[in-house]
Amino acid sequence: MRLDDLAAIGALDGHGVRHVLAAFPAQCRDATELAARPAVPVRQPALVVVAAMGGSAASGDLLAACVAERLSVPVIIHRGYGLPAAAVGDTLVIASSYSGDTAEVVAAARAAVARALPMVTVTTGGALAALAREHGVAQVTLPAGLMPRMALGYLFFPLLRILADAGLEVVSPAEAAEALDVVGEMACGLAPERPSAANEAKQLALTMATRTPAIYGGPVTGAVAYRWKTDLAENAKVFALAGTLPEMNHNEIEAWQGTAARAMQAVLLRDHQEAPEIARRFDVLRQLIEPAAGGVVETWARGKSRLARLLSLAYLGEWTSYYVAMLRGVDPWPIPLLDELKRRTQS
Ligand code: PA5
Repeated sequence: MRLDDLAAIGALDGHGVRHVLAAFPAQCRDATELAARPAVPVRQPALVVVAAMGGSAASGDLLAACVAERLSVPVIIHRGYGLPAAAVGDTLVIASSYSGDTAEVVAAARAAVARALPMVTVTTGGALAALAREHGVAQVTLPAGLMPRMALGYLFFPLLRILADAGLEVVSPAEAAEALDVVGEMACGLAPERPSAANEAKQLALTMATRTPAIYGGPVTGAVAYRWKTDLAENAKVFALAGTLPEMNHNEIEAWQGTAARAMQAVLLRDHQEAPEIARRFDVLRQLIEPAAGGVVETWARGKSRLARLLSLAYLGEWTSYYVAMLRGVDPWPIPLLDELKRRTQS
C-alpha cells in the first residue's frame, strides 16, 4: 500500500484506529479530569505498586520513567499474578486494567484486599470494577470502547493524579500542560492526510517495511522503546526488538554483524537532554552497526519536561506502528491470538 493513499488506508482500517490516534491529545486532556472515587486512601505511601499487563502496564512504565527523576518513593510495575512480597503496610497498590478482566490484575487486586493494602483501581469495568465495588475500593472509571493500548492517555494521566492525591507530585501542572501541547502540535503532522515527504511516522514505517525493527532508547527513553515494540507487535503483527543504552552496548551489539544484521532496521530514540556520555554511546553505536545493518535511523523526543519527551516518542511510536500495519496490509485493531489466549486461560 502507498501510505498517501487515503482510500486504501480507510478500506484497511475499518475500525478507525487513525481517528483514535488523531484524538490522542484530546484523550490526554480529558484524562487529566479523571480522579478516584472515593478518595485515594493513603498519604505518603512508602511504596507504590502498579499491577497491570500489556497496554495498561505501558502507562506504569511511563510513570516509573517520570518518577525516577523526582521521587524517593519506589514505584514497582508488577506484571503478573498476586503481589510482590515487598507490598506490605503502607504500600499503595494501583490495579490497572483497561478491560477490568485481565486475570493477573484481578489476582493482584485480590491479594491487595487480602493484605488490607490501600488500593485504587483504574478500569472501564469488568471483574476489577466489581471487586472494587464489593470491597469499597477507590476507583478511577475510564471511558470504554478503545483497545487498551490505544487508551494510553486515559490509563496514564490518572496515575499522576492518584500519586498527587497521595501527596507524591511526579509532574507539575506546567509540565503536564507542556506535554499536552507537545502531543497536540504533533497530531496533524502524523495523520494520514500529511504526505510521506513531511510525515515522520510514515517515513519511519517505510524503513521497517521489509526489515525487523530494533528500537533502542537511552536511560530515559528506554521505557518508550519497549512500548514501540509492543505497539509494533499488536498493531502491525511484526516482531521487534527493544533495548536500552548503555546495557545493550554490553551484549546485543554483538548481534549486529553478518547477514542477519542486513534484515534489521535500528531506530534510535534520542533525547536532547540525554547525558553527554549517553550521546557518545549512541554515536559510536551507530558508527559500529551501520555498515552491517539494513538501516539505522534516529528520531528525537520533543518538549522540555521528561513527560513531554516520553509522551512525544510514545505517540510517534503509535503512529509508526499504525503505518507499518498499513504497509503490511494488516488491520491494526484485532488481536486474535491474544484474545484466544485470554479465553483459554481465564479461570
Ligand atoms: O493492548 C492490549 O490489548 C493488551 O496488551 C492488553 O492491554 C493486555 O492484554 C491487558 O489487558 P487490559 O489492558 O484490559 O488489562
